[in-house]
This record gives sequence, structure tokens and C-alpha cells, in this order.
Amino acid sequence: MRKYKKNMPKGWEPPVPAWSAKIESGCTEIVIGYFGYQIQNDSNKTPNEFHNWYSSLLKADHAPIHTERGHVIDNENYRNGFYISYWNSKASYDAWRAAHLFTNWWNSDDRVNDDFGYWAEPMIIPLERFETLFSSEDKAGAATMFNDFKGPIKEHNYWGGMRDRLEISEVNLLEGNTENLTQQSHIETLGKRVHLKTPKNLAIIRSAQNLTESKDHEKAYYQAEVYPNLIKGMDFISTHPEETGCCSSRFSDELTISGEKTKKTFGFAYFLTLEHLETWSRTHPTHLAIFNSFLNMVQSLGGQIDIKLWHEVSVLPEGQVFEYINCHPKSGLLPWFR
Ligand code: HEM
Repeated sequence: MRKYKKNMPKGWEPPVPAWSAKIESGCTEIVIGYFGYQIQNDSNKTPNEFHNWYSSLLKADHAPIHTERGHVIDNENYRNGFYISYWNSKASYDAWRAAHLFTNWWNSDDRVNDDFGYWAEPMIIPLERFETLFSSEDKAGAATMFNDFKGPIKEHNYWGGMRDRLEISEVNLLEGNTENLTQQSHIETLGKRVHLKTPKNLAIIRSAQNLTESKDHEKAYYQAEVYPNLIKGMDFISTHPEETGCCSSRFSDELTISGEKTKKTFGFAYFLTLEHLETWSRTHPTHLAIFNSFLNMVQSLGGQIDIKLWHEVSVLPEGQVFEYINCHPKSGLLPWFR
């Protein structure tokens, strides 16, 4: 029985349509795994071995149902290339991860002494802790694993819609660590293999922008008016952990699986709690600037826009195991958790 009431205003009718992935019955949890390499931006080395290894894993038994690829230069000026893989069962992911094809390369001591660093951020997510929002019925991310969308849904376009779409929020406030992120741990991580466990109810958002079908005038408007705000917002959360509770944010370009450029970008960011993420999106001038410049674009172009926006949000059960091999100490969640 519901314990906490919805944030949705009474009689709410959203002004624009939106959809969520329709989870098939029988699926109780999904796995989202981010697997990447890193290297100094000025290095001329190319991570061919990593890509060959991961390509073979995409054809292995229990391979992910869907995979996407991204690239980001982080705040320490390291290039990070990574894959985001999706499974609809933990058993399948466990089998894939335990196979020799995975372990022989990943667990080898050669990785620790490699020119590259490597990182793995896999998350096992009960579906009651997962939500998606799409501005169109074009699949991406975890939604590709399911046949259908549900919608147009009512739970959006008001602050608090994200929480309302998380089934668990009916009975759980999803509280977590509310101490400020001030204590950086200064452990040496280069030349080492470091594991960490995520704290209770860490929230992760992957928020994506797809301009593949946008016409030139829309792309030009977006590039001039919306994108600069997006960059400012992404810079802000990745450099103000104490103020925002954002432990890590990587604003990335999406690439095709074979590595070509696309017209897609996405931010993926971890916040101490869902409330920290809500507070930034609802109140901070940087998200409000993104939001308002986007609404202005919609208005100026008479609603005729082809950009696709979508996000997927998870609130993680405590104890997800992340791994950083030979990575610089500011990588991912390394500065904050042991
Ligand atoms: C061009 C980029 C972006 C645009 C145009 C944009 C615009 C919007 C809009 C229109 C909404 C309301 C959606 C609805 O409920 O129907 C929204 C919600 C939200 N946005 Fe953004 N956004 C962008 C990027 C981001 C990024 C990169 C993040 C986080 C890393 C983010 C975090 C959020 C969150 C958490 C909400 C939900 C708030 C809630 O329901 O309580 N947004 N955004």
C-alpha cells in the first residue's frame, strides 16, 4: 500500500506527451554496465586491445542485449572511451562476467601495468528502483530491451515527476548519505586495482540528447542557445560536489559501436541521493537555464522540433561493486568511497 503521496498536482494534464519504457512481466531487475578505458589526452596510444576484447564479448554467450558507446575527456584531461551494456537478467550478466573471455583479460596483472587505466561501473537494479522518460517513442538505452513504451504518461512535466515514476517511492523515501561531499580520499590508485562499494541509495542519471533527425535550423538554434547552457550545467555539477552532492559527472559524446561520431550526447552522473538530483534540477540556475532555453527553442520554432530527449534514472541498492584499474585518483567515484 502507498505510504507517500505522489507529487503530481491534482487533475494534472501534461502540456506535451512523454513515454516510459514498458517493462515486461517476468523481468524483475536489469543490469547496466559501464566499461571503459582512460589515458592522458596527449597520449598517441590507441586502445585497440580493449576494443577488440569488448567486441568479442558482444558476441559471447550471455552477451548484453544492447550496447552503446561513449567518449568523454574528464576534468583531469584524460580521454575516457567506454561501452554501456544492458542485460535483462542478473544471471545472464553474472555468466558473461564470469566467463574466461572476460576474466582472462580483465583480471590479468597486465592491466595494472598497462599504459591505460580501466574502469567498470556495473549496476544491478531492481525495476522498482528504475525509471525512464522519453520525449518520443524512439528506443535507446535500457528501453531497447523491452518491446513497447507505455504512454503518453501523466507523471511528467512537473517537479517531482521523476520520483513519482519510481515505483519504490510509494513506500520508500530513498534517503541516503546526506553528509556533504567534502572528504576526498587521497589513496594512490595508479598502478593499482581498486574496488569500491556504493553507499545506500546512490542515484544515477543518464540524460541524453539526440539531434539525428533535427533539421539544420534547429541544430543551429540548439547549438547557439541550448548547448552552451548544457555545457555550463554539466561543468557545474562535475566541479561542485559539496554544493550539489554530485559525486561524478561525465558529459559524453555518443559514438556508434564501431567508433564513428553521432549527433547524440549524454550526461551520466551520480548523486548522493535522489533528493540531491531533484534539488539541482528543480532549483539550480544551471539546470533552469538548460530547461528555459529549451522551452524558448520549442516556442521559437513553433513546436516543430525533431530533437529527442530521454533519460534513465536508477536509485541503487547499497553495495554495487565498482572497479578502477590503474586509474587516476579522481576517476568516477574513487575520490569519495572506499
Ligand atoms: C539539453 C538538455 C536538457 C534539457 C532540454 C532538459 C530539459 C528538461 C525538461 C523539459 C524536464 C522536464 C521533463 C518532464 O518531466 O517532462 C527536465 C527534467 C529533469 N532534468 Fe533536464 N534537461 C536537460 C539535461 C539534463 C541533464 C544533463 C540532467 C542531469 C544530468 C538533467 C536532469 C533532470 C532531472 C533530474 C529532471 C527531472 C526532475 C523531476 O522530475 O523532479 N537534465 N529536464
